[in-house]
Amino acid sequence: MGKDIQVSASVLCADFTKLGEEVKKCEVAGVDMLHVDVMDGYFVPNITIGKIIVEALHPITALPIEVHLMIENPWRYIDDFIDAGADIVSLHTECYGPRRASCKEFDQYPKEVDTIDIEKARRDVLKIKGRGKKAHMVLNPGTPVCFGDLLNDLDGILIMSVNPGFAKQKFMPGVLPKIQELCKTFKGEIAIDGGVNGSTALLAVEAGANILATASYFFGAENQKEAVGHLKSLQKN
Ligand code: DX5
Ligand code: ZN
Repeated sequence: MGKDIQVSASVLCADFTKLGEEVKKCEVAGVDMLHVDVMDGYFVPNITIGKIIVEALHPITALPIEVHLMIENPWRYIDDFIDAGADIVSLHTECYGPRRASCKEFDQYPKEVDTIDIEKARRDVLKIKGRGKKAHMVLNPGTPVCFGDLLNDLDGILIMSVNPGFAKQKFMPGVLPKIQELCKTFKGEIAIDGGVNGSTALLAVEAGANILATASYFFGAENQKEAVGHLKSLQKN
């Protein structure tokens, strides 16, 4: 039996005029954690939300909060997000290595790397864990698994199944072999994010993912409880 499936609801598609009610809906629907998509307009071509939303969410819910940091120089903000209430900090691998020629300019996307400075990444991972929180590393679709022995220090790995920047994009099945490869050696959480819905989730779970992040599928569902129930029923045998 595989690990229990956990559903992580990305508030990017929530109605921000009533965020408190949206969080209650997540709880009632059986969501396992909240996913906060932080974008800076540099690492990705979009600007979204930051620490003040985490501060607003933290006191109104017992659900763990994951911050998905799609920002340059994420190390500058680790303490801020943990102080604000983050339980899981997800760092992009592409912030720790030389960018490919295709994305060296600030406005060239998606950001991708082939190798990283493992010790630099480890410092940030250990900083997060030193504060009693969980550290995940995120891989853009075009970035290969390149963690070396950093794998031993990670609580989880988040596989992007779209190029980050926007909700409502189409799932990229080409990332599934990375999950299959990781499963062979990595015992931590494997999350997937981007274009997850009732059918693509099955592919991700079959490949070995156990955390499903979703914005538009969950918040757009007529019956959110059923949507979550469906995702959790995909449990791998
Ligand atoms: C994309 C974000 C995702 C996004 C998912 O850059 O990291 O978390 O909100 O949106 P959906 O589920 O609509 O693809
Ligand atoms: Zn995300």
